[in-house]
Amino acid sequence: MSDLSSMKDFWNKTAKKFGEDEDYRPVLTPSSKGLINWYADCLQNRALSRILKGLFGKTVLDVGCGVGRWSARLASVAALVVGLDLSREMILKAKKRMDKKGLSADFVVASTHMLPFIPRAFDAIVSVTVLQHIIEESSFKDATSSIAQTTKGDGEIILLEYSYNPSGKKNRYSSEFPTVAHCYREAFEEVSSLELIETRGVDLSVFLKPFNRFYKKRGKYKVNLETGSLSFLYKLSLDGFYFLASVACILSLPSDITLSNRFQRYSEHQVFIFKSRKTNQKSP
Ligand SMILES: C[S@@+](CC[C@H](N)C(=O)[O-])C[C@H]1O[C@@H](n2cnc3c(N)ncnc32)[C@H](O)[C@@H]1O
Repeated sequence: MSDLSSMKDFWNKTAKKFGEDEDYRPVLTPSSKGLINWYADCLQNRALSRILKGLFGKTVLDVGCGVGRWSARLASVAALVVGLDLSREMILKAKKRMDKKGLSADFVVASTHMLPFIPRAFDAIVSVTVLQHIIEESSFKDATSSIAQTTKGDGEIILLEYSYNPSGKKNRYSSEFPTVAHCYREAFEEVSSLELIETRGVDLSVFLKPFNRFYKKRGKYKVNLETGSLSFLYKLSLDGFYFLASVACILSLPSDITLSNRFQRYSEHQVFIFKSRKTNQKSP
C-alpha cells in the first residue's frame, strides 16, 4: 500500500471508530482517555486563539481539517473558510459539526500533496498536526510547495506541529503512527519567498513526556484501533495508565502556561508563522 493510501485508510478508520460524543478524540490522541485530549486541545487553543482572531475577514484554508476543530473556530472570524482533508470520513464529521453549530464552511476531500486550488487562492493557510504525519521526504516537499503556492503573496501560513527535537536530528516515533519533527523554516523558505516570523511553544508537558515516549514507541495507537476485544487485565492496566497520564497533564499545566515560550526547544509542539518578506518589512 502506498504512503498516501495507507494514511487515508488509517484516518478513515480513526474517524469512523469514534461517535459524536467523543468529539476531538479522532484528531488528538485517538486511543487516549482521561484528560489527555482535553489538555492537548486546551493548550493548542491557547497558543492559536489570538493568532486566529487576527484572520478577521480573510479567506482561510484549513489543511488537514479533520473533524473541523479549527474550521469551526475560524468560521466565526474569517470571511470564508475551506476545510480540506485526505479522509472522507473526517470531512463528514466536520460537516456535521458545522451544521450542529449553525456555522458555514466549504469542505473538500484532497491531499496536501496537490491542493486543488488556483495559485494564491487564500489569504491564510492554517494547518494543525498534519505535516508531522507526512514522513516521506518527497511527499513532504510536495505538500510544502503546494501550501506555499496556494497562499497569496501578502498572505500567511500558520502551522502548529510536533517539534520536540532537542538533539537536532530527525526523529520519528513508532512505525504504526509515525510522527516526525520536520524543520519547517528550511522547508518553507526553500520553496517560497515566505519567511518564518514567529514561533511559539505550546506544551512543555514536563510530567507527560515519559508517558508520550512510552506510548508512541509501543505503538499503542494501532493496537487500540484494531483490537476488538482486550483482556480484562490489559484494560485495567490501560485505565491505570490513563489515570496516571491525566494526573501528569494537570501537574504539567502550570509550567506549560508560564514557561512554554521561554523553553520553546523543549515544547512537544510549536506554532510556526510564515509571512512574505515584503509584508513583514512593512509591518513594524
Ligand atoms: C491529527 S489530525 C488533525 C486534524 C485537525 N487539523 C485538528 O487539529 O483537529 C490529522 C488530520 O490530517 C489529515 N491528513 C493526513 N495526511 C493528510 C494529507 N496528506 N492531506 C490532507 N489531509 C491529511 C488526516 O486525515 C487527519 O484528519
